[in-house]
Amino acid sequence: MNLPISEREVKMFSDIKRVYLDEIDSTNDYAKKLAQSEKSDILVIAEKQTAGKGRKGRTFISPEGGIYMSLLLHQNVISDPTKITVMASVAVARAIEKVLGINAQIKWVNDIYVNGKKVCGILTEGAYNSQKKSFDYAVLGIGINLSVPKNGFSEDIKDIAGALTDKSSRQLKEQMINSILDCFFDIYYGKKEYMSEYKSRSNVLGKQIEYIKNNEKFSGNAVDISESGELIVEENGEKKILNSGEIKICIESIKK
Ligand code: BTN
Repeated sequence: MNLPISEREVKMFSDIKRVYLDEIDSTNDYAKKLAQSEKSDILVIAEKQTAGKGRKGRTFISPEGGIYMSLLLHQNVISDPTKITVMASVAVARAIEKVLGINAQIKWVNDIYVNGKKVCGILTEGAYNSQKKSFDYAVLGIGINLSVPKNGFSEDIKDIAGALTDKSSRQLKEQMINSILDCFFDIYYGKKEYMSEYKSRSNVLGKQIEYIKNNEKFSGNAVDISESGELIVEENGEKKILNSGEIKICIESIKK
């Protein structure tokens, strides 16, 4: 069903077609396969993932109790997947506040933090068509630690990861998913301004940060975020534009 934007705007966006899965390797990969035959926007949700993917080839550990969802976006695909990630970060932070009343911050570029712990990661993948010089579709993947996994967080992430609640329920999961969709589409199709909120929720801006680029450690003052989502860092009076694909911010430096 391909509704024109005006009709979409009066619709509750949480009405989007959904696929529910008990277990899958990665909802992003599943959505990419669906893109070959599905020509409408569609949401894929899994109870758990066996090979959840994070940015830069990292694994996103995805046991039961979390929300693992990928949104296949065919229409009006924005030319830059980073912008979709930025919009989604604002949407997830807003949804957390609306549903749970908890303040959520954004760690540039794609992580959501609550009380100093990572509760959500976002991975947007685009299918670039070099002939058309545009994206055929994008897959927006969102992983949320809604509750603490049955066996706790694994050793390698236990110092960084946090959960949103003590106990999750089907109802809470659905509420969160619906709220995220509504907040996201409100920005994406509603063409609402979102950059000022992205910046005001940033736990990086205004801080002296340390970051790693090409295996070398640098430091600087995070002074701004550009419209296309690059981080602007000032070091000895010189401004540097940092691309999220190239650098890793040292988490200890933003906790200070
Ligand atoms: C990150 O933290 O670097 C991004 C994590 C993104 C995880 C989500 S979970 C749903 C979707 N499917 C995946 O395989 N990854 C994303």
